[in-house]
Amino acid sequence: MINNFSNQVLKWYAAHGNHKLPWRRTKDPYKVWISEIMLQQTQVQTVIPYYNKWHKLYPGFAALSKANLDSLLLIWQGLGYYKRVENILNSSKIITNEFNNIFPNKYDKIIQLPGIGDYTASAILTIAFNQTYIPIDSNLRRIFTRMHMLPTKLQSLQKYKKYGQYYINKENPGDAVQALMDIGRTICKAKKPLCKQCPLAFNCKAYIKNKIALYSIPKLKKIPTYKVVVGCISKKNQFIITKRNKNKLLGNLWELPGGKLHTKEKLSDCLKREINEELNIKINNIAKVGTIKHQYSHFKIIITLFRCKYKSGKPRAIKSQAYKWIKTNQIKSFAFPSATHKLFKLINKNNESNL
Ligand code: ADE
Repeated sequence: MINNFSNQVLKWYAAHGNHKLPWRRTKDPYKVWISEIMLQQTQVQTVIPYYNKWHKLYPGFAALSKANLDSLLLIWQGLGYYKRVENILNSSKIITNEFNNIFPNKYDKIIQLPGIGDYTASAILTIAFNQTYIPIDSNLRRIFTRMHMLPTKLQSLQKYKKYGQYYINKENPGDAVQALMDIGRTICKAKKPLCKQCPLAFNCKAYIKNKIALYSIPKLKKIPTYKVVVGCISKKNQFIITKRNKNKLLGNLWELPGGKLHTKEKLSDCLKREINEELNIKINNIAKVGTIKHQYSHFKIIITLFRCKYKSGKPRAIKSQAYKWIKTNQIKSFAFPSATHKLFKLINKNNESNL
């Protein structure tokens, strides 16, 4: 009976799978690799325009090997987890130098590439190379946990992979794996699963025993909120931006300088202190522009933006990689986090010509 799952999965995929996703129209390992890296921690719908833009500009290793990190970050801005871009660039250099621009098709080789773990290596091998590896993510874990009423506490990777074999057709493992991804995302959801539409419900232990509720894990994450103050510091018709340090969150992206508010500190005092600590300069004519909120995976920030004038001191990039004076029409040439783009919109609304 258990072998029947793999046929059900493929039948469901043919009728209901999302075949329109651009990375599903190819078996090119380069394209599958980029899609899998983009899809790490990021929703399918968000990835589509980024994937299309990437492949227009960098259709293969030849083009990618000539790219620099800043131009790749410019495409990636807004997608998050920017370390992924550095890993892609470093992997591409290895593939160019050691594999003659041909993506390796062996697990032992793929797993050595920067930014690639068991999940991504297994996904590339099944989808691009038709090899039966099983990429275990939270969607697949949830399906197997409900189907076999496994403990909800995290089990070993090998255990999930063992159950995964019942679902993967060896002739067509790529479609089978992507079918499970679709089922996990759209039907066997963490909250309010749509069991009536599920091709596997006929054999799902938790469903048959009416215990799905016990396996429905609401995503309740309490995350901290930080208050941050930043400045748009102008000198003539230019303002200053700083490049974040490499191994930090949002590393290598540019931003408006500023930092975390200390307890009991006045917002404008925080700005003066941060600007002095970060850039060794003094500011004046400080005026509040507004506030934006932004949510990252593990915290939220509330950013208050001030406009101000450069007063004195020779700028030094003390807490960043670099600083630059730019004009508003140069914003598009640098990669900024989404929160910074929200701040630029605020400045625009408040009349940028007063910079
Ligand atoms: N998430 C990770 N890989 C995916 C794929 N190939 N299709 C849809 N969602 C995914």
